[in-house]
Amino acid sequence: MYFCGNRGYGDFFNMGEYSRLGISTERRKISIFDTTLRDGEQSPGVSFNKKIKTCIALKLYDLGVDTIEAGFPAVSSDEFNTIKGINNIIDNVCSLSRCNINDINKVIDSNSNVIHLFIATSDIHMKYKLKMGKNHVYDKIIESIDYASNHGLKIIFSPEDATRTDMNFLREVISNIGNKVETVNIPDTVGIMNPISMYYFIKKIKEFTKNTISIHCHNDFGLATANTLSGLAAGANEAQVTVNGIGERSGNAALEEVVSSVYGFLNSYTGIKMEKLYEISKYISSVSGIIPQKNKAIIGENAFAHEAGIHVQGIINNSKTYEAINPELFNIKRKIIIGKHSGKSSIKYILEKNGIYKTDEEIKNILNIIKNESSKKVIDEDFLLKVSKNE
Ligand code: KIV
Ligand code: ZN
Repeated sequence: MYFCGNRGYGDFFNMGEYSRLGISTERRKISIFDTTLRDGEQSPGVSFNKKIKTCIALKLYDLGVDTIEAGFPAVSSDEFNTIKGINNIIDNVCSLSRCNINDINKVIDSNSNVIHLFIATSDIHMKYKLKMGKNHVYDKIIESIDYASNHGLKIIFSPEDATRTDMNFLREVISNIGNKVETVNIPDTVGIMNPISMYYFIKKIKEFTKNTISIHCHNDFGLATANTLSGLAAGANEAQVTVNGIGERSGNAALEEVVSSVYGFLNSYTGIKMEKLYEISKYISSVSGIIPQKNKAIIGENAFAHEAGIHVQGIINNSKTYEAINPELFNIKRKIIIGKHSGKSSIKYILEKNGIYKTDEEIKNILNIIKNESSKKVIDEDFLLKVSKNE
């Protein structure tokens, strides 16, 4: 049996002998830093008002995330007031700030205890965006960290575009920020890593810091969750994620995927209440207007839906045959879909669920009608029940 942390979720995972091959299974807590309200809100076209932002923050708190990045106080006075309001009701809130005194003061005035300081360290960002040299960037980092620390803030520091930063410079920055910083976050800002390179990258970073390492992956190649998992496997202790993976461009690592992977692959645990994940996912879809693709892992409409006859037969006999995770973990109901690929077991299963009992011959006839009709129309349970009346 797989042991999946302090909440005893192990029985919900149907992993294989090789699922954890090559991964250290030393059991530990992985912290979850949620940035739905900051990076998630930076998704093109998404804007949450104060009421919605506060509601999301409360739901994230209830879900059990360790840190909630509520936003970027310097963005606007509305954003500032919203963050202040959230800070007055929730304590594990963090706010984003560039490495300048004005931004840091906004974080202090918004009553945040935790600041997420960032500045780009890659050559391309320093040259074309910041128009600053390495020494200037370095000075800004040290000055900002000193200032924030002198004002009693807990500091998370991000060298933006870390994964495209010259390693010597990254080493210089990270090894000199010292113990005034609680967490060093490694952003893969444009999602250019892969699971293997990320593993070695985080191992390298660990050679020159004793700080907690967080990892922040973007999904430009569709690898955000995989890269996050690799970073964690290499020794990072925290994952920066968003609900449904919303965020800049193709988004961030999805909270629901990362947390499930922590249980499934790392033999580790988080503080997340898995049974609440689906509910918050639905809420974020509705308020962001970003509806996850049907085949999206965990929370997509098809994630626990089965149509092919052979699969349905397996599922009916033992759901572990075709489900890596039992959907009950997330309070999601498994769906048996009727269509071109259905077999007799699906028809029998759905009819009997509705109290209708048919002979083998009748079921065969119903299945034939369904298969013929499936190229012309959407087949649903109601249509099946109607067809079954004539048999
Ligand atoms: O992707 C990124 O680099 C960011 C930073 C602000 C951490 O979101
Ligand atoms: Zn980001």
